[in-house]
Amino acid sequence: MPEQPRSTLITGIGELTTNDEGLGRMRDAALVVEGDAITWVGRASDAPAADARIDVEGRAVLPGWVDSHTHLVFAGDRTAEFEARMAGQAYAAGGIGVTVAATRAASDEALTANLDRLADEMLRGGTTAFETKTGYGLTVADELRSARIAATRADAVTFLGAHLVPEGEDADAYVDLVTGAMLDAVAPHVDAVDVFCERGAFDEAQSRRVLEAARAAGLALRVHGNQLGPGPGVRLAVELGAASVDHVAFLDDDEVRMLADTWQGGSGAAGGRGTVATVLPACDLSTRMPLAPARRLLDAGAVVAIATNCNPGTSYTTSMAFCVATAVLQMGLTLEEAVRAATLGGAIALGRDEAGTAGAGAAQAGTARLPLGRIRPGSRADLQVLEAPSITHLAYRPGVPLVHAVWRAGERLV
Ligand code: NIG
Repeated sequence: MPEQPRSTLITGIGELTTNDEGLGRMRDAALVVEGDAITWVGRASDAPAADARIDVEGRAVLPGWVDSHTHLVFAGDRTAEFEARMAGQAYAAGGIGVTVAATRAASDEALTANLDRLADEMLRGGTTAFETKTGYGLTVADELRSARIAATRADAVTFLGAHLVPEGEDADAYVDLVTGAMLDAVAPHVDAVDVFCERGAFDEAQSRRVLEAARAAGLALRVHGNQLGPGPGVRLAVELGAASVDHVAFLDDDEVRMLADTWQGGSGAAGGRGTVATVLPACDLSTRMPLAPARRLLDAGAVVAIATNCNPGTSYTTSMAFCVATAVLQMGLTLEEAVRAATLGGAIALGRDEAGTAGAGAAQAGTARLPLGRIRPGSRADLQVLEAPSITHLAYRPGVPLVHAVWRAGERLV
């Protein structure tokens, strides 16, 4: 007989941010965690009995961050490039090649240790689920080992063979490889395929080939689009029903409307789901690009996710709290909107919200596919407790490490 899960009542919650339309942002709340799931949420005074009880003494509780865009399988250092950028040099995709050379030269152990270091740092910062990408290997063998290493820690793995055309190679021949032997090798290890659709990386026709091959392989689609200037990335992502288009720093009104429309009536997106616009504020700052128009996107009705884009070139931070504070202080989001985008928004981008996980349960072992991004019965018990009475402090006290405790899948890890 399997052992009965122990239930824990978390009470004394000064403010509970649930992302649940009915429950909202509650005061004097409590919740029950049983096994890896949340089984009850309500007023502290109505709380049921449980095997164990933890009083968080008026602190704020919110879902763990869901970081839906990172590049954590890499080796090497790009401090000099960053310093040159801060002295006025523009970011160019070519810098990726420096990390590719270092990554190819690194052992599996070194790559795994670096991934673990960053994943541990994320957890201490309140991140309880994350996606990470390949893209610094760019050979069949190096992309395959990147995907395998990524899968040891990440909740979702994305194949980004189409990150850069390796030096000295012909672009179209390289796309043949990405859409052929490379995709065949990595497909069993990944959830999605991404393409860097940008001047200096892959053009519209090449990006389309990558995405169509991914779709034929039954994988979700992602696009790095409109990062360094206007371009075809957003239009392509919407046309092909991508799960997300990320960066989106340069959007005209039509592109904003197009992204919002993917959520109206299910048009334009695979399986009736729209295309999430993922904004990456730390990257915009680090590359001295305009901040993505998250306010305009939300006003138009788009679904927005906030992610770190942690990578050694354009955004070397694991801090979702920094991204949330930037979204509030500089992009015009309210605290509630920013927290929602950094939790539920990421879950939707990864197909790990309720709608995305519906029906997946039977195919998955155990409860590995409990939905993420909300605090309500049935969700995975991924929580962070702040050393503060409300989420307001995330922007009111920017830069201050406010994480007091973290639960992931019902287990207290911080
Ligand atoms: O998302 N834009 C492409 N890829 C990364 C940057 C990678 C790098 O410069 O190493 C990004 O910003």
